[in-house]
Amino acid sequence: MSESKFYVTTPIYYVNDKPHIGHAYTTILADVLARYHRLMGADTFFLTGTDEHGQKVQRAAQAAGMTPQQQADATVVRFQELWRKLEITHDDFIRTTEDRHKQVVQSILQDLYDRGEIYRDQYDGWYCTPCERFFMEKDIERGNCPECSRPVEQITEANYFFRMSSYQQWLIDYIETNPEFIQPDFRRNETLGFLRKPLNDLCISRPKTRMGWGIELPFDSAYVCYVWFDALVNYISAVGYTADESGFQRWWPADYHLIGKDILTTHTVYWPTMLKAMGLPQPRTIFAHGWWLVGETKMSKSLGNVVNPMEIIDRYGVDAFRYFLIAEMTLGQDATFTEAAFIKRYNADLANDLGNLLSRVAKMINNNCSGVIPPGPSELAGAEKALWEEVQTAVDSMTGHVEKMRLDQGIAGVIGAVRSTNRYLEQQKPWVLARNGEKERMNTVLYAAAESLRVCAGLLFPVMPEKMRDLRSALALGGESPDVKKLKIWGVLPSGGPLPEATALFPRIQSENREEAPLRDKSGAVKRDVKSSATTDEGLISIEDFNRVHLRTACIVAAEPVPDTDKLMRIEVMIGDCRRQIVAGIARHYKAEALVGRTVVVAANLKPVQIRGVESNGMLLAAVSGDVLRLVAADGEVPSGATVR
Ligand code: MSP
Repeated sequence: MSESKFYVTTPIYYVNDKPHIGHAYTTILADVLARYHRLMGADTFFLTGTDEHGQKVQRAAQAAGMTPQQQADATVVRFQELWRKLEITHDDFIRTTEDRHKQVVQSILQDLYDRGEIYRDQYDGWYCTPCERFFMEKDIERGNCPECSRPVEQITEANYFFRMSSYQQWLIDYIETNPEFIQPDFRRNETLGFLRKPLNDLCISRPKTRMGWGIELPFDSAYVCYVWFDALVNYISAVGYTADESGFQRWWPADYHLIGKDILTTHTVYWPTMLKAMGLPQPRTIFAHGWWLVGETKMSKSLGNVVNPMEIIDRYGVDAFRYFLIAEMTLGQDATFTEAAFIKRYNADLANDLGNLLSRVAKMINNNCSGVIPPGPSELAGAEKALWEEVQTAVDSMTGHVEKMRLDQGIAGVIGAVRSTNRYLEQQKPWVLARNGEKERMNTVLYAAAESLRVCAGLLFPVMPEKMRDLRSALALGGESPDVKKLKIWGVLPSGGPLPEATALFPRIQSENREEAPLRDKSGAVKRDVKSSATTDEGLISIEDFNRVHLRTACIVAAEPVPDTDKLMRIEVMIGDCRRQIVAGIARHYKAEALVGRTVVVAANLKPVQIRGVESNGMLLAAVSGDVLRLVAADGEVPSGATVR
């Protein structure tokens, strides 16, 4: 990597709710890339922030009894606190409610309006309020939104439109001639597929009478700007567009916009055409990563399976969390988060391989070399030469993989080098050399293993900054960042010491087979032991056990008897945004038409089962006594997806 500047962005996150593992992932990924590029000597700018306008935020504010600005102010600190905890090294944090951003959005709107790129027109069509999106007649699915399956409304209103359609052919040509513009390749094809259909102009306004929380259009105070048109501009407003020409020239165009696959169209169709209309260059690469799933399912509030990064960090530490996310996800693909997978990888890569290597080397140096790194050979030969070559392969492969956004493979290469070093120790047996008084050979072996650790710690530094600082201190290297140029040079580790008392860098997690592992503090010590789920007093369960069943309110949207059965009913429910199919044995007690529209209570996290060949994803709760069966419901109106406890 020889580039002199590197500008990387994350999406700006909505402040309608606290951050979850998906937000944490994109931000950690950007941080790891920013740290690599800084180490490589690139002038780096890393931008993240929050998207504070629009309906989602307005709704959350209403529900919380706050103004949208209060909602944004209360939630933004949760993101900022998490980024602090995760050691995120962003250079700027932009909030779309800041004046520096609002002014840029307004000046762009005015300019595009003056040049006829934005025009006013009557809109007749379908609108999905929860998604804040307009749809054509052909897209509507039986009166429902194609995205969220909820009913759409027909609306007629005057609005302002951006002439996005006029850039359709230009965009197709641009994507085709710039293969690195949208990555991975299959996402590029997805956008090209989308562009095969006629592109509409983009409605960029919302009448204040319907949705007032946004940036006012400078040419019509009855309207605010559509939240996406406002949000995308953050990538240029933060670096000084229209306000600080030299800052803007220094950073724009961005090298990477990192996004989740859910926001591909907005970033690869809306944003490029907006930039084109503004006469600005395009970002180098828009990179869409996959989703973090929990088990097999999408994370969703209504399923109660949203992974809170704070809890994982409290339990296992910041660096282990960063490591797992980056090592586990193949960029572009979906990945699955489970605590069992987390513990497995932690124990294998970090406790058994890396942590163990450090403690073996440090202990041997402490016991046999008075705690001082012994001198190493100036010329490499034999087993040491072979080991060094393997370590160097890891250096080259990490550099190549960072460029190609294959961080998981780069990390696998480093862990491979760690394993080779452990194998090298087993073959060279420095403990036997010590016993036999072969001091010089023992010194060589220990030095070679310590050199290998130095390089591996340097390569993993951007992923686990705190632990790799500890590792460097354990080798008396000082806590500061590694000099990457020295990762290719043999014999950098100075002979000397004394090494600090060896402590376990990654203490093994003992609870691999348990549902929950003990909470650990930063040093790895157990903070609180979570009781195993066995009952102690007869028939009594703990509150933790009870909480494992996710009970939610659900609205029945469809019901029909399962053919050839007399008891079973196939029911479709909405749990918040999520549609589910459940098979329930209630057909003798309820008619299908009497069920639709009811809000009931379901157990939402049961494993799917097949009942008479029909998949059932959950269970309806009912009170049963003899022949009587009545569905359980809340005592009054509650939205679907509410927690029942
Ligand atoms: N505000 C818009 C983005 C505007 S960018 C100009 C938005 N915000 S969001 O809060 O919904 O966060 C979206 C981003 O969070 C996703 O694109 C992705 O980067 C990340 N993730 C949210 N859920 C995720 C997973 N389950 N898995 C991985 N990342 C996901 O959309």
